[in-house]
Amino acid sequence: MQRIKYLIILIFGIFVLNACEYDFIEPPKPIPPDPTDTISFKTEVVPIFGEQGCLVCHSGTINPDLTVANAYQSIMNNNLVDIDNPELSIIYTKPVPGGSHPNTYTPDQSAVVLVWIQQGANDN
Ligand code: HEC
Repeated sequence: MQRIKYLIILIFGIFVLNACEYDFIEPPKPIPPDPTDTISFKTEVVPIFGEQGCLVCHSGTINPDLTVANAYQSIMNNNLVDIDNPELSIIYTKPVPGGSHPNTYTPDQSAVVLVWIQQGANDN
């Protein structure tokens, strides 16, 4: 009888200890673009503006105009790219993750934009 009691306590104990175990959910790591890959403005940078809701405001009235047809010209005409100091480019710093702009890039989108500038900010 005594043994059964211990056994029950033991089994119960295992359950209790098990309940304390929890899985850490790793936040997804940003995937930085491979700097040896060429970033395409049209297929990688421009879609970010749509995905992040930038077009709600930046579709013509507020500079830059980030619509597919005008994004490149508008970014260049408003001097939002600093080729010599890519990390100072306004198109990179203004919507930086965690920044105060109404909408921001995700960390991986931010990296895509930076690498695109580092590669010469081409209309590719
Ligand atoms: C709720 C409206 C709104 C949204 C959404 C928004 N912006 Fe803006 N953005 C503005 C306003 C207003 C300004 C001008 C005032 C300022 O500089 O903050 C501005 C300014 C900027 C500038 C600086 C322009 C300059 O000439 O200095 C950049 C770059 C920019 N936005 C990029 C973005 C990007 C990229 C997104 C999406 C991730 C975005 N914005 C989302 C309203 C918005």
